[in-house]
Amino acid sequence: MARATTESTDTLEALAASREVLVTCGSGGVGKTTTAAAIAAMAAVHLGGKVLVLTVDPARRLATAMGIERFGNTETRIPAEAFTVAGLEPRGQLFAAMLDTKASWDDLVVRHAPDATTRDAILGNPLYANISGRFVQSHDYIAMERLYDIHASGRYDLIVVDTPPTRNAIDFLAAPDRMAEFFSSRLLRWLTAPYQSKVFTLASKPFMTVADRILGSQFLADIAEFFMLFQTMHDGFVERADAVRALLSDRRTSFVVVSTLETAPVAETRFFIDALASERLDLGAIVLNKVLPPYLRSTNATRTARLLSDHARPVAEAVLGRLGDDAIDVVDVERVLGQIADSFLDYQVVAKREGELRKDLASFADVVASVPYLTDDVHDLGGLIEIGSHLWH
Ligand SMILES: Nc1ncnc2c1ncn2[C@@H]1O[C@H](COP(=O)(O)OP(=O)(O)OP(=O)(O)O)[C@@H](O)[C@H]1O
Ligand SMILES: [Mg+2]
Repeated sequence: MARATTESTDTLEALAASREVLVTCGSGGVGKTTTAAAIAAMAAVHLGGKVLVLTVDPARRLATAMGIERFGNTETRIPAEAFTVAGLEPRGQLFAAMLDTKASWDDLVVRHAPDATTRDAILGNPLYANISGRFVQSHDYIAMERLYDIHASGRYDLIVVDTPPTRNAIDFLAAPDRMAEFFSSRLLRWLTAPYQSKVFTLASKPFMTVADRILGSQFLADIAEFFMLFQTMHDGFVERADAVRALLSDRRTSFVVVSTLETAPVAETRFFIDALASERLDLGAIVLNKVLPPYLRSTNATRTARLLSDHARPVAEAVLGRLGDDAIDVVDVERVLGQIADSFLDYQVVAKREGELRKDLASFADVVASVPYLTDDVHDLGGLIEIGSHLWH
């Protein structure tokens, strides 16, 4: 399916139709994974083509909701029955994959190692297994790397990427650059130099001698071997980091920032929006998730709640006759009605605050979509589509 790349977009549907990569990001727990899955499901149903959601930490429930046992590192097609059961007839196909950091690192080594001996030496290095899972930013980097790889394969019309719950939402944007920096770093060269030259340099000799005594020479040799082998992949890595970076900046890629309307996530969202702008990355849409329904902000509703709160007694008397239960006392009805009116007014205070925070954010993107707080957790494709339908138009 051909997708245009330049048309203006004022809905998430138009955005999804005109982009090849959408990246959902935002602070922890705001609904990034859910939004990514919902956008992908909507695109598969309404736009057609092949759509992949690349999730990072899908709740098991989400996998079940999509009709598969669990997501794996390989892309899995969501069975047609999962749509049929939800009463949907998708025009396209939906696939899902999970990011398995270890498996993706292995893949990367296999691809970038200059020869089979180096490849096996890296994969067999005792430190590799440990380090590949714990590398600083390893997860973020691998997410971007995997995205690049899948995009380059041309297998999908749209890839929706979920991002990890980072402490700092912009960490993963810097991951490719940081990885390239790491490979070019002086620290790495300094660590491996003595082993590369087999002659200790004057600068590192005292350190190496002490470290040898404390850590044991085998340990140090393992570290050095690991980094040395890794350095053989330097050029491949730096090239890829640049390519990943280019894909993120490409016009076919947009970011969807997800936020709830609470003070802390909104502050982080503002920060994230600035970071995207300064990196010249496209902010395609802002999704305001778990928001209170708009009727809470209606002035007539406020008036009604105030009247009810102030005149709970006469209303209770009127209602009592209709309840048709002699055991109920008018005082109880008055209490219940007054309490309902008061909590409605409390919710309104929160809704008003949400309205102010919404105004804060709305001016930053052409597309701003709101998804109400749903009482039911998403447990099937129908649930995802319900969230998606709030996003779409
Ligand atoms: N609109 C909504 N209404 C009610 N519950 C929701 C809504 N959106 C998401 N949730 C629920 O909130 C929880 C967190 O959502 P999700 O996992 O998508 O967030 P996340 O941003 O990916 O979190 P993390 O930062 O941990 O990866 C889930 O249980 C999800 O089902
Ligand atoms: Mg998540």
